[in-house]
Amino acid sequence: MEKICPSVTDVKKTCDESPAPPGCFIVFGASGDLTTRKLIPALANLFKRGLLNKGFFFLGCGRTEMSDEDMRKSAADSITGILDNPQQFLSHFYYVSGEYDDPNFYAAIGKKLEEIEKKYPGKLGRVFYLSLPPMLYEKVVVNLGQSGLNKNGNTFVRLVVEKPFGRDLASADKLNNSISQWFDENQIYRIDHYLGKDTVQNILMFRFANSIFEPVWNRNYIDNVQITIAESLGIESRGSYYDKSGALRDMFVNHMLSMLSLVTMEPPASFETERIRDEKIKVIRSIRPQNLSPDSGNVVRGQYTAGVIDGKEVPAYRDEANVDKKSNTETFVAARVFIDNWRWRDVPFYLRTGKRLAKRVTEIAITFKKPPHLVFASVGISDLPSNVIIMKIQPMEGIKIFFEAKSPGTKLCIGTLEMDFNYAEIFGSEPPDAYQRLLLDCVQGDQTLFTRIDDVTLAWSLVDNLLKDWQTGNSQPFLYPAGSESFPQADELIQKDHRCWRNITKM
Ligand code: BG6
Repeated sequence: MEKICPSVTDVKKTCDESPAPPGCFIVFGASGDLTTRKLIPALANLFKRGLLNKGFFFLGCGRTEMSDEDMRKSAADSITGILDNPQQFLSHFYYVSGEYDDPNFYAAIGKKLEEIEKKYPGKLGRVFYLSLPPMLYEKVVVNLGQSGLNKNGNTFVRLVVEKPFGRDLASADKLNNSISQWFDENQIYRIDHYLGKDTVQNILMFRFANSIFEPVWNRNYIDNVQITIAESLGIESRGSYYDKSGALRDMFVNHMLSMLSLVTMEPPASFETERIRDEKIKVIRSIRPQNLSPDSGNVVRGQYTAGVIDGKEVPAYRDEANVDKKSNTETFVAARVFIDNWRWRDVPFYLRTGKRLAKRVTEIAITFKKPPHLVFASVGISDLPSNVIIMKIQPMEGIKIFFEAKSPGTKLCIGTLEMDFNYAEIFGSEPPDAYQRLLLDCVQGDQTLFTRIDDVTLAWSLVDNLLKDWQTGNSQPFLYPAGSESFPQADELIQKDHRCWRNITKM
């Protein structure tokens, strides 16, 4: 197969970022994994890029007793190598400790905010960030409301809620009812960090900034779409969260459906937050609900057993820390869904995500129908491969297009060409981490990449019966050895349509 490498001739200069307005981040769960691994490094990168206002500060809140100095030391450990002179950035870090259900904790936060704000010029907006186990969300929000911290005169107050937003339809509704007593929808930023990835946003640019793809982006030309999020990592130290969650809640109802909606939505009237969100929701509403029902035969789930990844032995899911030895929680899920609307009727969408698979790769593969009439049949070429567009979400971010062309030499020699665009090669750097985009958008008040409540409830309603059925324990996930590339149970789902999954190891 030949490879054609494109080059960029004209990068539009609409890409200058506007810096954040004055604002601070008040992060609950300041010593947790997400804060140290993602939030603080993202803030350091924004600081380095000159995108954080001088009046920015970070107030860590948590149960661990720490001083401001301890907070700075802990933050320093998570930003190694990002800043030449980290001290200036770290001087903006503060900390207050307390119990999440104790009103005194919130009084102390209010007092600390007033003290710190005196050091910074002007009025600062406040972003409360729940980087906490989900069962604490409601407690913290109610206390923020009762203590009056949800209001701040004329400046903005926003609330960032990490996924999962609830664990099923009923709990998401309950959580939303609690939050909405204290915060309006336009103050609530529900994170699905996949939407912050450049390559995921690029789905919209690819579709709607070009005129060559949209005319063929429908059931007349597309044969099927496969969306894969494969991880080689296991559950790390998150056993207690993951065992109550599983792949369906952890990846499918949010990241998977978000990518599906961007690939399939209608063009919005304009690139405005609510117009984009409306179209995303419209298409999710068109997913045939029976596809995800327990007896549909369209969903399979698996769980990893011990195996080998990158030459290293790794334990079975049930032997991971804080996981029930008899756990039925799925670490892999695959589904086949149809979208009942004019554009997509009868096109199958195959979705799969799993942990401890052979390789880490996320991609969307759009496979086109074969030409309606094969003119080369008369000279002995009876079949040709389909054209495929691959959106490489990560790693090796980019886009690949496979098409047929004449190979040099023999008069009738046809070969598949692979046109491969890689972000890093073309733009000279990897796309920034999703959290930089999302944190910046949040202080700037742009909700486009955050999930609206009707999107959340719709997604839960699609899988609600499935979740209830799995909970009964009547059926079990199949087992697959860690490091697997594929397994028969997932293959059957697609083979019954005479198709096959793309090979993860070759992506
Ligand atoms: C998170 C899930 O939302 O996404 C994790 O909770 C998963 O289980 C992670 O590992 C994957 O994100 P990324 O950006 O590494 O693909």
